[in-house]
Amino acid sequence: MIKLKKEKLLRFNQDKIKDKDVLVRVDFNVDFVKGKILDKYRILSIKETINFLKTAKRVILISHFGDPPSLINMDSERINTDKFIHGLNGSKADNTDNINPYKSVQNPYKSVNKYSLKKILPLIEKLLEIKIGFLKNLNSKPKEKFNLLENIRLFKGEKECDLNFAKKLSSLGEVSVFEAFSVAHRKHASVYLLPKILPTYYGFNFEKEINLLNKVLKNLNSSVLVLGGAKISTKLPLIKKFLNKARLIILGGGLANTFLKAKGFEIGQSLIEEDILEEIKKIYSPKILVPFDFYVLNKNKVFHRFLGEIEKEDKIYDLGEESLEVFFEELKKAKNIVFSGPFGFVEDQRFEKGTFKLLKFLSQLKNKFVLVGGGDTLAFLEKKKLLKKFKISTGGGAMLYYLAEEKLWTEEK
Ligand code: 3PG
Repeated sequence: MIKLKKEKLLRFNQDKIKDKDVLVRVDFNVDFVKGKILDKYRILSIKETINFLKTAKRVILISHFGDPPSLINMDSERINTDKFIHGLNGSKADNTDNINPYKSVQNPYKSVNKYSLKKILPLIEKLLEIKIGFLKNLNSKPKEKFNLLENIRLFKGEKECDLNFAKKLSSLGEVSVFEAFSVAHRKHASVYLLPKILPTYYGFNFEKEINLLNKVLKNLNSSVLVLGGAKISTKLPLIKKFLNKARLIILGGGLANTFLKAKGFEIGQSLIEEDILEEIKKIYSPKILVPFDFYVLNKNKVFHRFLGEIEKEDKIYDLGEESLEVFFEELKKAKNIVFSGPFGFVEDQRFEKGTFKLLKFLSQLKNKFVLVGGGDTLAFLEKKKLLKKFKISTGGGAMLYYLAEEKLWTEEK
C-alpha cells in the first residue's frame, strides 16, 4: 500500500512551485462523442490543483488522449511514418469521425488530427475556467500561464518509456506535479520516468484517490467488490485477491457471461472471453455471485429469461430484477463497496436499466462507503446525475490495478 509522505504532497509544498516552470501530468483521456465530453469529472477533478498552481511561473499540462501510434519525433514536428511500435487499439479520442486508424497509417497527418488534444482544448478551458495555450510539440514556446502539450502518446518515446524522451520532456520544467491517478498503472515516460528526473509532488486529487483506495485495502474483510464490464481477464488478479480476503464478489456484464460459460451454462451468443475459460473453471467459491435472470436479444426482440432457459440464438444484454433483489440483500450487509464497470449494454437504452437500478440502490444506502470508478461508469453516472452520491476514483484500470497490486508506477523505483 502506498503511504504518501508530506514532503511529496503538493498542498504542503507551495514554496516549491512558486515562480517555477511546472509540468503537470494530468489525464484528459475523456470520452468525446459528437463534440461533447461524456465524463467531465476527469477534468473537473484537477481543479483544486490548477488553482493551487496559479502562483507558478508557467504551467505545462501533459496528457494522453486515446491510444494513438507514436507519430511525432521529439526533436521536431516531423512525423514518423516508419510504421508503429504500438498497436492501433481502440481509442476514446473521437468516436464520431469514422477514420479507420489503419488507413490513417498511410496518412499520418489524419491520425495526428484524430488524436489531437487541440480539439477538446476549448472544452477543457471552459471546465477549468482558465485560458490555456496549445503546444504542438516539445519545441513550441509557451505563450500563456497555462499551456497544454499535444497528446503525449503521439510522441515517440512516451509509450516506449524512453529515457532520452523523458529527459527532453523534463527540460520544459523545473518541477513536476502528478495529478493523473487514472494512468498511474502505465509504465510510460511521463508517468514512470518524469518523477525520477524532476522533483515531483502529488496533486490534490491523486492524494484523495489514494486515501480512498487505502481505506478499502485496510478493510478488505468487510468489503464487497461489484465488477462489471466486458473483460474478466484483466480483472482476474483482483478477483483472486478479493476471493481470499473480501466478503463477497458480485460479477456482471461480460465478466459474468464468461464465468457462467466456464461453469457449463448455456449463454447463447453472449459476449465472452473464450481464451480464459479454462482458468475460470478452476475458480470455485461461494463468495462469487452472478446474475441468474437476464434480458436477452433474439432476432431483434427482447426477452426475459432465467439461467437454464437461455436459447442458442439469445444474446445477454442486461441482468434481471430477480438477480438484483438478491444482490441488494447482500449489499445491505456490506460496509464498504467498490463498484466498477457496467452490468449491461448501457449504450442502448433498452439495456441500461439493470446498471441504473444497481447504482441507484447503492446511491441510497446509508452509512456505507461506496467507491465507484472507471471511465464508462463515471460517464453513466454523469448522464444519470448520480455522480455526487458516491466516492469517486477517476481510474478504471488504475483503480483495479492498485487494489490488486497495492503499487503504482509513479512510486516504483
Ligand atoms: C483510462 O482511461 O483508463 C486512462 O486514461 C488510461 O488509459 P489507457 O487505458 O489508454 O492507458
